[in-house]
Amino acid sequence: MAKKRILSGMRPTGKLHLGNYVGALENWVKLQDEYENYYLVADYHMLTTDLNTDSIKQNTIDMVIDWLATGLDPVKSPFFRQSQVKEHTELFLLLSMLITTARLERNPTLKDQVRDLNIESLVYGHLGYPVLQAADILLYKGQVVPVGEDQIPHVEISREVARRFNQQYGQVFPEPDVLLTKFARLPGLDGVSKMSKSLNNAIYLSDTPEVVTSKMKKAVTDPLKVRKGDPGRPDICVVYMYHQKFNTPEAVAEVETGCRSGALGCVDCKLRAAARINEFLSPVLEKRRHYESNPNEVFDILHDGETRARAVAQSTMQEVHENMKLG
Ligand code: TRP
Ligand code: SF4
Repeated sequence: MAKKRILSGMRPTGKLHLGNYVGALENWVKLQDEYENYYLVADYHMLTTDLNTDSIKQNTIDMVIDWLATGLDPVKSPFFRQSQVKEHTELFLLLSMLITTARLERNPTLKDQVRDLNIESLVYGHLGYPVLQAADILLYKGQVVPVGEDQIPHVEISREVARRFNQQYGQVFPEPDVLLTKFARLPGLDGVSKMSKSLNNAIYLSDTPEVVTSKMKKAVTDPLKVRKGDPGRPDICVVYMYHQKFNTPEAVAEVETGCRSGALGCVDCKLRAAARINEFLSPVLEKRRHYESNPNEVFDILHDGETRARAVAQSTMQEVHENMKLG
């Protein structure tokens, strides 16, 4: 049986952190063999919230290096930038006729963004964000889209638009399903909010062992455990969560018992977590260094992926044109 097709996408925000890894990338790597994958750099989507494009190229390189360093294989699956496959804009335009502005205004993810970013008046392109995303997915006839919870409304809009197109012009597109990323939220070093670049609470995949250790030392733990000897509550402590995510089950059990009894001090516990994360990051850093000194390889990978993606996109657009009796 043919493998199902996955379309995975990320906006190029630069170097990725452990939260991005746990929330998305780790899952992408796992899904590599079971499905036919397409990896999209959503550079046009960046424009919806930031018109300044000075760092978009560097941010793309940094993100793609993290994809490569954590094990995504560009030979198996193409990596490509939305802006380099013109069919994205074309399908975006056609799909934008198939959805009402009222429907797009009801998008809860948009409402959250408007509130969080204090957007006073919305640009037309931002309202259309999910339509561009639908074009990203449908152009490759993506059947499965691995995303976090905040993206569910966008995939729902993709399904509606696909259905609408098929009703109007005949069956072309599958309705994509969400594949929800499980361990979706890794808290940041502040212990309260989600790990995020803007909150300055992140450990990056590119952080050196020294940086990881010094960041970990500042992590916020159980406030009632002041010194070694005080019993602690691992379940409310972010360091424990890092152990759970990156350490062995035996080590996690040991941390839990030691924390609860008080025998384990936070300093020691943090050093153990940092050591384990550094062990995980060591091969990542090594691969990263290779691509950092050979950025041309990264562009070769993108150009190759863009050629492959374009072939699929063009064939879909041909079907679209035929069904719509255009040309
Ligand atoms: N909107 C997605 C995000 O912010 C990024 C994205 C763009 C995407 N196009 C996509 C994700 C297509 C999945 C499929 O995370
Ligand atoms: Fe957190 Fe570890 Fe301190 Fe317990 S011992 S509160 S798990 S850092």
